[in-house]
Amino acid sequence: MTANSRSDDPSIDLDDIGTNPTSNPSFTDLIASRLSRRHLFGLGVGTAGTALLQACGGGGGGGGIGFPVLPPAPAPAPAPAPVPAPPPAPAAPKLGFNAVAKSLEDVVSVPAGYTASVLYRLGDPIANGVAAYKNDGTDDPATYDRRAGDHHDGMTFFGMDGSNKWDPANAARGLLVMNHEAITPLFLHPAGQTITGTGNAAVRTVADEVLREFYLHGVSVIEVNKNGSAWSYKQDSNLNRRVHTLTEMTFSGPAARTDYLKTRYSTDGSKTRGTLNNCANGTTPWGTYLTCEENWAGYFRRIAATDNPNRTAKEITSFARYGVSSTGRELWATVTPDTADNIYGRWNTQVTGATATDDFRNGANTYGWVVEIDPFTPASTPKKRTALGRFGHEGACLGPVVVGKPLVWYMGDDSQNEYLYKFVSTKAWDAADIGGGIAAGDKYMDDGKLYVARFNADGTGNWLELSLGVNGITSGNATYPFADAADVVINARLAADVAGATKMDRPEWTAVNPKNGDVYLTLTNNAARTISNTDAANPRYYNDPKGAAQTAQKGNPNGHIVRFADAGGDPAAVTFNWDVYLFGARSTASADVNLSNLVADNDFSSPDGMWFSHATAGLLWLQTDDGKYTDVTNCMMLAALPGQVGDGAAKTITNVDGATSATQATFIGKAPGTDGLRRFLVGPKDCEITGIAESGDGRALFVNIQHPGETTAAANISDPTKFGSHWPEGGTARPRSATVVITKDDGGLIGL
Ligand code: FEO
Ligand code: CA
Ligand code: CA
Ligand code: CA
Repeated sequence: MTANSRSDDPSIDLDDIGTNPTSNPSFTDLIASRLSRRHLFGLGVGTAGTALLQACGGGGGGGGIGFPVLPPAPAPAPAPAPVPAPPPAPAAPKLGFNAVAKSLEDVVSVPAGYTASVLYRLGDPIANGVAAYKNDGTDDPATYDRRAGDHHDGMTFFGMDGSNKWDPANAARGLLVMNHEAITPLFLHPAGQTITGTGNAAVRTVADEVLREFYLHGVSVIEVNKNGSAWSYKQDSNLNRRVHTLTEMTFSGPAARTDYLKTRYSTDGSKTRGTLNNCANGTTPWGTYLTCEENWAGYFRRIAATDNPNRTAKEITSFARYGVSSTGRELWATVTPDTADNIYGRWNTQVTGATATDDFRNGANTYGWVVEIDPFTPASTPKKRTALGRFGHEGACLGPVVVGKPLVWYMGDDSQNEYLYKFVSTKAWDAADIGGGIAAGDKYMDDGKLYVARFNADGTGNWLELSLGVNGITSGNATYPFADAADVVINARLAADVAGATKMDRPEWTAVNPKNGDVYLTLTNNAARTISNTDAANPRYYNDPKGAAQTAQKGNPNGHIVRFADAGGDPAAVTFNWDVYLFGARSTASADVNLSNLVADNDFSSPDGMWFSHATAGLLWLQTDDGKYTDVTNCMMLAALPGQVGDGAAKTITNVDGATSATQATFIGKAPGTDGLRRFLVGPKDCEITGIAESGDGRALFVNIQHPGETTAAANISDPTKFGSHWPEGGTARPRSATVVITKDDGGLIGL
């Protein structure tokens, strides 16, 4: 599907792309560890519990009740500093709501006793003088840089005090910062995208439509306030900001100011314009926001047949590994005439000029990064942090924050058979950097080590360093001779290939349990998993029957969630123990598919968004982005109370493909039951539930509803009765992505 633009088939899941051709080790090839499983589970479980652990999502590293980081240890300290006593352990939480039933209705359903209110919809104005959104495709394109973007995704609430400073505990006022991953083009213009021609000759002919789309990607920063019990955003706040595909950004880290990033726009490789396909998010302990560039590759136009003759063998290898070979997902590069500053032509990443500073042949190298934004400084320039590697970044979850220890971010690369990464800072955390903005990012995020994960068959794992000269990442590597440190981070996937990372079932969000430091990774699904290449950490192969037609949905259609504990509770450790926390499945599926014993109140498919609440002492929220179980239910959000790595047992499962069967050994966590996992929300038709944040007291939960009605056929734009959804306005309205805020009618904590 990478050869075609998005407009060719709106039903294709644009996340579901695989470009990993390697034959990295399946576990049957790996040498079994001498360590027994029992021994492993006796070590390293919950040993980080002596520190107040803080992780991604909530208010930039904390966000719940209390301060976001540990205070500095008392000086003087020639000996190791004493660890402050932990706060008293709260009573074990219990889920306190009745499960929401699976549903195909065009509404947001929440449990009795809760209210979900729409807060911030596609097109809503965020500045004075911008008119309400008409939602008929005729709004002035020039106003879209001051309107909500489309496809709301990863999101963080930054509590804010009366001086507009970060105040993580604030329960009534804050900045809500969210990604706008992509667009549903059909509903953005009078009658969808105006395109003439087909295949390589297809072109966009209405520049104003493309301008709208430029602005509708990126990030929103909006001020939100609680008035009485109701939340609203402040249209005229001078802190409101849109970051989009035309926003200037600078580079830092190993790739900054190198030849790889030089373009006609930035002849010294120091900057680029924009960010897009911002999927999940991340935070920093100093109070900034991280937005992650996921399926950026498809937006660039590069016709391999004509461009490859102008390219080096290394460039061609890199393009193939990242999937940079298409007409361009939205055909942005095809608008003519181009502007003097090449706002359309910059999406053409082919060789067209004499040198790299005459064209945008390196344009694709300027995307695929984690981008830092300081929401409290609206005029600040976002920075792309190249030390964290270039790949299909889903998110960047901050690990435990401990004074005097390095900082760590865990990062999924969401494509079929891609990898899990982590970045460990060189500098140790100093709480004096709280509020330090982008300058603090320079200190912690430009200098450190990038690792990729290998999951071993015995339940252990290794973090493999991705640096020039180690793990086969050398100038002598046959597939891709690495030239320097910049080459390694720009081609992190190729470095991870040679290091021997484990191919996973599409790594989505990561989340860190604040109670014990365990790290969770959603593996949403993988149609490319075969019965002969399952492994211990990606153990299932089966056919999920969809409806009466029993349509083949083979591989791992419903996904699972792996979790791991870095050795000794040290996020900088290079080994870990893992198990599978949860397997998605229909509750009616066979025992070798429904391995977590899901029932009607908690069965789900294709986990994606995932986040630990801090205010509720470790409640885990799971969100789905599913196209497999959608014959039975729309996408959903569930509340979970997970245990810990190793609380289950070893198990050998039997995979079946027609007349063929094969066994696969794995490790499965304790089945959750309905006390440990329960459906809390079901979204409207044809949507994805993604993005979650809480107010400083945990009594307001912000959740994003992405692309209701997304698969509406283009031919139906003139017939509202055939729209896939009319949410949130109902009637005959066009559907809109939106943020909802969920409160408990008695004012209590959400979910308990
Ligand atoms: Fe954009 Fe991987 O979900
Ligand atoms: Ca996602
Ligand atoms: Ca997804
Ligand atoms: Ca989506």
